[in-house]
Amino acid sequence: MTRVFSGVKPTGHLTLGNYLGAMRQWVAVDQHRADALFCVVDLHALTVEHDPARVRRLSRQAATLLLAAGLDPELCTVFVQSHVDEHARLSYLLECVATDGEMRRMIQYKEKAARERVRGGSVRLSLLTYPVLMAADILAYGTDEVPVGDDQAQHVELSRDLAVRFNQRYGHAFVVPRATLPRVAARVMNLQDPTSKMGKSDDVGPGVVYLLDEPDVVRKKVMRAVTDSGREVVYDREARPGVANLLEILAACTGGSPADLSGVYESYGALKADTAEAVVELLRPVQERHKELCADPGYVEGVLRDGAERARAMARPIVDAAYRAIGLLPAV
Ligand code: TYM
Repeated sequence: MTRVFSGVKPTGHLTLGNYLGAMRQWVAVDQHRADALFCVVDLHALTVEHDPARVRRLSRQAATLLLAAGLDPELCTVFVQSHVDEHARLSYLLECVATDGEMRRMIQYKEKAARERVRGGSVRLSLLTYPVLMAADILAYGTDEVPVGDDQAQHVELSRDLAVRFNQRYGHAFVVPRATLPRVAARVMNLQDPTSKMGKSDDVGPGVVYLLDEPDVVRKKVMRAVTDSGREVVYDREARPGVANLLEILAACTGGSPADLSGVYESYGALKADTAEAVVELLRPVQERHKELCADPGYVEGVLRDGAERARAMARPIVDAAYRAIGLLPAV
């Protein structure tokens, strides 16, 4: 059976971008057709300045939202990264096959490090090695497919390179994974700045729709979305990024394609109103289920406990084999 692995990082409240770009496919497709693991990658949240209590809170919230969105622990494994030691164990081995040049070429590293320096902060070493830990997440499970949004494609490509290199040098230890991207909404853009990604950590509130935003907040954010100077509602990502983003969001919510919606609307206002309602309806059941799950924290804890146990049992033999292959003496 195909093995699928993916994750979300608890550095902020989950967004519509996370949902349309990744979570929705996990729920609707991946958990049904594959042996799938979905992980709250809390170790990754420590790569930038963080508040320990907030990371803990966001990790619990992310796990609850994954379940609220429809991941079913009977069908897939949901767990927290730091509960399974194999991620950190394997990360070190992969640091011994990755190069520092390779890390410095990663787009997200360059962007985040530059932002950190502008703020006058220092860049954590773990931000540089972040993609190695992500490769460890993926390779520890013999993963075939990694369903992600477009912004993670380069990291998955690196995981492939590291798997191939390790296998060539030390003998076959890892499955070589590949990224799978959604057909529509692989990169949902910020509503206030449609040339940059809708990101949870950026906290540019008005341009980011959070999964737990109240319906009226969602409506306000969508109605105030920046559009372009033209008048016709046509789908053109280059020339009309604001309108294209709304068409993508609407298409993703209603199951159509943005190109088919091109020319259907007579005004930006009508497009925004329909998009706002589609998003509100999309989020409604997730928010209702989230409320129910918050009233039953013991259930979520139980899911994470079982999930970690299952994940450990899958990862341990793969990581142990990699330890032997690279030349480490087995513990007796
Ligand atoms: P993260 O937490 O930033 O995002 C989680 C998932 O949501 C997707 N995504 C988006 N898709 C479309 N439009 C957007 N605006 C948008 N924003 C986020 C991301 O592509 C991702 O699929 N490094 C990863 C977490 C990670 C991981 C892994 C993923 C750690 N280890 C192993 C897969 C496999 C990250 O920061 O995702």
